[in-house]
Amino acid sequence: MKKVTVIGSGVMGHGIAQRVAQVKVPVVLFDINEESLVKAKSLIESNLTMQVNEQLLGEQEKEEALAFLNMSTDLEASVQGSELVIEAISEKLELKHGLYRSLESLVPKETVIASNTSTFSMKELTEGAAHPERFVVTHFFNPAQFVPLVEVVKGAQTTEHVVNETMSFMKQIGKSPILLNKDIPGFVANRLQAALVREAFYLLEEGVADARSIDLAVTDGPGFRWGFAGPLETADFGGLDIWKSVVENLAPTLSENTKVPDFIQTAIDEGNLGTKTTEGIYSYSSDIIQDRLVERDQYLMHLGKLKQST
Ligand SMILES: NC(=O)c1ccc[n+]([C@@H]2O[C@H](COP(=O)([O-])OP(=O)(O)OC[C@H]3O[C@@H](n4cnc5c(N)ncnc54)[C@H](O)[C@@H]3O)[C@@H](O)[C@H]2O)c1
Repeated sequence: MKKVTVIGSGVMGHGIAQRVAQVKVPVVLFDINEESLVKAKSLIESNLTMQVNEQLLGEQEKEEALAFLNMSTDLEASVQGSELVIEAISEKLELKHGLYRSLESLVPKETVIASNTSTFSMKELTEGAAHPERFVVTHFFNPAQFVPLVEVVKGAQTTEHVVNETMSFMKQIGKSPILLNKDIPGFVANRLQAALVREAFYLLEEGVADARSIDLAVTDGPGFRWGFAGPLETADFGGLDIWKSVVENLAPTLSENTKVPDFIQTAIDEGNLGTKTTEGIYSYSSDIIQDRLVERDQYLMHLGKLKQST
């Protein structure tokens, strides 16, 4: 890619732009909100500094990455000459459609437009598009600068060329892209996560164990293994006959809730949203939240390095 534009410099956009800059591809991070761009620049600088401090990046590489990154509030200039535009704006369909209409009037039909949407199908995203064949979903995971997975979803009209270019660019920026064969709500990873979170809420509601223990059952149990082998390979390692019994014996006892349990709804009604408000399933002080985020990023950086080396 000669140039990439990332639109929306919030939680996801800044991390995506950082990855592109780190492989020395010129990238413009565009936002309608100047303050968001200022915050994004500062976050990218501190993310890169953290990588330097952890000896995962040289000081010169950090400076080079920053030199490949530009911030802008001018859409036309931002997309000029871009071969790929990655949209990471708020999850509102009418906003995304409005942006796509502007983009399609500014870029040639060969420019690939990728959306980081978490919930909209390709059918919904491409409604009214002049060139639906150049649209694709690239669903990154937070923090996008460190988590390798990107889910790539094609629409009925997306060309093979667009899919191949997208998959190959995701690899170039150090990601592990997976291509979905079907356009399904939640794609793959969020469906798997939702199944697990539903059961975790249920176990907590039933008082089977406390929150810390339920979390530990994942981070130091199956989750500890999942960085190496996913659930399907784990089933092969355990034996499909064993897993047949596990599923058949346990499935009837698992949560089938289609709504969150009352204690989650009550917390929301009381304004307790988790780290956003300091009270959630756990209680947090604001310095603990910051420390936990730094700790998380350091952990993910080293996990990424470990996975690359194996
Ligand atoms: N936060 C996550 O964990 C996560 C994970 C995966 C995917 N996503 C998806 O990524 C997208 C962005 O999410 P986020 O969490 O980064 O949102 P965010 O609210 O942190 O950032 C959105 C940014 O988009 C900007 N924006 C809004 N309208 C715009 C427009 N028309 N043109 C340019 N900029 C505009 C806002 O100013 C803001 O800076 C959403 O589609 C979301 O569903 C989020």
